[in-house]
Amino acid sequence: MKKLAVFASGRGSNFRQIYKNIISGKVSAHAECLITNTSRAGVLDFARKQKIPIYVIHPGDFDTAEDFGKELLKILKNNAIDWIILAGYLKKIPDNVVKTYSNKIVNIHPALLPAFGGKGMYGMHVHEAVFASGAKVSGVTVHLVNEVYDSGPIVMQKAVNIEDCHNPEEVATQVLKVEHRLYSMALQKLLTESFQIEGNRVVFNN
Ligand code: GRF
Repeated sequence: MKKLAVFASGRGSNFRQIYKNIISGKVSAHAECLITNTSRAGVLDFARKQKIPIYVIHPGDFDTAEDFGKELLKILKNNAIDWIILAGYLKKIPDNVVKTYSNKIVNIHPALLPAFGGKGMYGMHVHEAVFASGAKVSGVTVHLVNEVYDSGPIVMQKAVNIEDCHNPEEVATQVLKVEHRLYSMALQKLLTESFQIEGNRVVFNN
């Protein structure tokens, strides 16, 4: 069974959904630990209830991103982690971690990348930008993580019709429902099927 480290900074609804799917056998993995940058996130309550070990690591406590990465790598190694799952983690993953876990770090983005992505485009900022643009369609992207924000190989995408949404909050609600389904689906494929990277897309071999 592959061992997952989940990185999260917020309420943790994606983590909860993935965890539920692990328990029911829809995702073949073990949630080994939660790594977070804040001691106040809602996701911590959930991890505590499930008795999942929590590591609170503040990037600001390190002189460089490299040192921050070394600390993360130490934890990942000690827990024999196979895959890193980003579920609303608001800090940049240091390059040394990206290199060590090449194509083994997954992120979910609440829009159709490459639109509405990049530095500063997270959480409600994304939905506000989508709504302000007048777009009638938003969506969800699951992608592998490289050194540049929101630009790694795309694993899966799903469009969400937002024609009937009256504000960014309604867009967020519609998109989140799809996130909860798509993330587990994409994870299960990544964990159980062989794939290759062609250009900037993940291509499964069957
Ligand atoms: C989700 O919208 C996810 O796409 C983004 O951050 C949000 C996290 O939500 N990366 P939650 O903490 O999983 O509820």
